[in-house]
Amino acid sequence: MSKSVRDILSMKNSKKITVITAYDYTTSQLCDKAGVDMLLVGDSAGMVMLGYDNTIPVTMDQMCLFTEAVARGRQNALVVADMPFMSYQSSKSQAIENAGRLVKSGADAVKLEGGTEMKDTIHAIVEIGIPVMGHIGFQPQTTTVQEGYKVQAKTKDAAVRLIDSAKALEKAGAFCITLEMVTREVSKIISNSVSIPTIGIGSGPDCDGQVLVVHDLLGLYEKIKPKFAKRYLELSSDVIQAVQSYKSDVTSGKFPGAEHSFLMEKSELERLKKEIG
Ligand code: KIV
Repeated sequence: MSKSVRDILSMKNSKKITVITAYDYTTSQLCDKAGVDMLLVGDSAGMVMLGYDNTIPVTMDQMCLFTEAVARGRQNALVVADMPFMSYQSSKSQAIENAGRLVKSGADAVKLEGGTEMKDTIHAIVEIGIPVMGHIGFQPQTTTVQEGYKVQAKTKDAAVRLIDSAKALEKAGAFCITLEMVTREVSKIISNSVSIPTIGIGSGPDCDGQVLVVHDLLGLYEKIKPKFAKRYLELSSDVIQAVQSYKSDVTSGKFPGAEHSFLMEKSELERLKKEIG
């Protein structure tokens, strides 16, 4: 049986929570086998899978497709799907309908960006039985307003606002909160101030868990290399090298070899030769 929201909640103050993004069946299967606690179908898919400059153009149809694939690949992890830009901001009924679509696509929970201003929306989704992960600090869906990627909660006033937001999300019923690019000190204060787990990305080691974009961890995305993302592999150079070897084998006739070919029965070949002369 796969992990439940209750399992994730029980990890607070006992075990660190590991989260990784996934957008397709194969990656989902591999990360699940590696033992992560949650698979996040992030709207970062817009950048790393679809080549957009940011997450703004991502649609519900795209997120549903990615979610279906990830859900098919997991056995143990909890699947959380991101609600894309403008799929929950217009009204509570819009948010409920789209959260429902993601659950019908295989998500166990949804994530949406926003602090105190989103508390009623989160409450409405939780009330109908869909678990919600909050997302505060840097919010990629509002990069334009935030004028790019900036560390959050660097001043006392900004810190107080963020702490208040975390408390509001907890009160609204969120089961955990992503903290993106939040100063280490404030992440620690938030983690100690709420009873639900905090999942950090670029927010230091004191969060209850960590999340990374799988393309960053594997060294597959070259356009942006965030300081906070540890690259455990540099797969893009390995991939380029492998494809170059393939190309050189094809052009030199080295591939495909006998071991990659299928042969007819000798007798059938003889009959064929006779027939075609
Ligand atoms: O979309 C995403 O991948 C995310 C993570 C950065 C937390 O929201």
